[in-house]
Amino acid sequence: MNQQNNELSLDGTHVVNHELGTNLHWMHGIEEYLDYTAHPDTKTYHNLKRAIMYGNIWHIKDLLASEIHRGHTDLTDEFLNIILAHYIGYEHINHRKVLQYVAHCIDSNYIKKISSWSIKWQHRANLNEHFSRGQMKSKCWMVAELSEIYQDEYLGTVAHYGGWYATVAQNIFEKFRVKNYYNLEVDPECIEISDDFNYEQTVGWKFKSTVQDVSNIVWKDNNSFDIKIKNLANNMVTTNVKPDLIINTSCEHMNEDWFNNIPTGTVVCLQTNDYFENEQHSNCCRDLADVIAKYPMNEIYYSGEIDTQLYNRFMLIGEK
Ligand SMILES: C[S@@+](CC[C@H](N)C(=O)[O-])C[C@H]1O[C@@H](n2cnc3c(N)ncnc32)[C@H](O)[C@@H]1O
Repeated sequence: MNQQNNELSLDGTHVVNHELGTNLHWMHGIEEYLDYTAHPDTKTYHNLKRAIMYGNIWHIKDLLASEIHRGHTDLTDEFLNIILAHYIGYEHINHRKVLQYVAHCIDSNYIKKISSWSIKWQHRANLNEHFSRGQMKSKCWMVAELSEIYQDEYLGTVAHYGGWYATVAQNIFEKFRVKNYYNLEVDPECIEISDDFNYEQTVGWKFKSTVQDVSNIVWKDNNSFDIKIKNLANNMVTTNVKPDLIINTSCEHMNEDWFNNIPTGTVVCLQTNDYFENEQHSNCCRDLADVIAKYPMNEIYYSGEIDTQLYNRFMLIGEK
């Protein structure tokens, strides 16, 4: 993160860095997650976000008081630099350091996981897009609606099409019993990143990512398909997948071949949006009626939309 936009006051000291807030955009998404899950430390996080992103002096005062209360630790100097970053021109602030601070203030295993994962991936993973407000709100919404449908909390085998870094898998493991969770991603860069986030479940391949264009899946008569997974010895092993649930939260990034190919009777949870302006989106929908027409289900269990501020997100859960 650069400091070029730190303005200098007349006496040469640094004043507010307006870029900091933009560079730490992922902080909005974490807030969304804490709000949605009614986390007990939500108020602390609101303080923290306003101090770090916007340099709000009253929130900074609260954080300094909390550090006095915590007492001196090996990380105190680092934490003070983060809290005061807007004013002292802290050269070394980055995603990892802020996440480490957040993980120390907010008692959440999910945030601790993001923090430890970011040590390795902060430069290769796009945290600002992945943990944006819209992405986080959409994922929380999906988990909540799936909970309404799967009252017995058993999902069986999940195939997540275009699952990206598949961080939502952790929220799903937390809420449901899952037999296997496969992240089928066309982008090889995502494989290691998502496996590392879900490393506890990669043991025994309860969670596994693999390179797969989901438009080209070849279904067998028994409603299963084969994928190739790289094992620890770097050999590609053929694995048969018979999904009980297909999740696709990336419909706006691909045509409908993936949906047309899946067998009748398969349960699908899909999300798409009306964010036509985003150049990465090749297949948006105008509204919910458009979604229902484009992805016809035999039975719809849930259909709905949410406003994510930047765009509307649509979700359809049902049996094809
Ligand atoms: C930017 S991301 C995900 C956005 C989405 N809103 C979400 O949260 O999951 C879109 C992902 O879809 C993946 N993708 C696009 N087309 C695909 C395909 N045909 N097969 C598998 N993955 C695909 C991309 O590689 C990318 O990781």
